[in-house]
Amino acid sequence: MIRHILTFPDPVLKKKATPITVITDEIRQLANDMAETMYDAPGVGLAAPQIGVSQRLIVIDVAAKDDAPQLITVINPVIIHGEGELYEEEGCLSVPHFSANVKRHAKVVVKGLSLDGHERVWHADDLLAIAFQHEIDHLDGILFVDRLSPLKRELFLKKAKKWGAP
Ligand code: NI
Repeated sequence: MIRHILTFPDPVLKKKATPITVITDEIRQLANDMAETMYDAPGVGLAAPQIGVSQRLIVIDVAAKDDAPQLITVINPVIIHGEGELYEEEGCLSVPHFSANVKRHAKVVVKGLSLDGHERVWHADDLLAIAFQHEIDHLDGILFVDRLSPLKRELFLKKAKKWGAP
């Protein structure tokens, strides 16, 4: 089921999400819905808080349009290592009409659980590394606009007012 995506400044987006302790049918359904919602948007990643569920679950697919889908679903993801630096343009389904360059690690190692409950480690670079960092930020109540310089953030807030955010 495609879910409604919350947008800035919805307070759920600012909340720290809680870890998932048991992988229930409800969690599996949530993961399915998140993937469906992400592909429909379309986007390259989605975190549960973006559809109003404050739990630590993310989905990512950075495969090119013409390639086969490569869905990554991670429960309780944690960045255990980051290195290098990237400064690429980012957008967010919860922050419409705005994009900006954000400083990120060029490579990350992420630990978490797959949907079957097994612990897994993902080694990511480039776009996938950015997606992991962006989505895990969502679980901590951080939007990419929170990582901008004060001046750029002010520009964002001005633009946000124009599209109706208070
Ligand atoms: Ni986002």
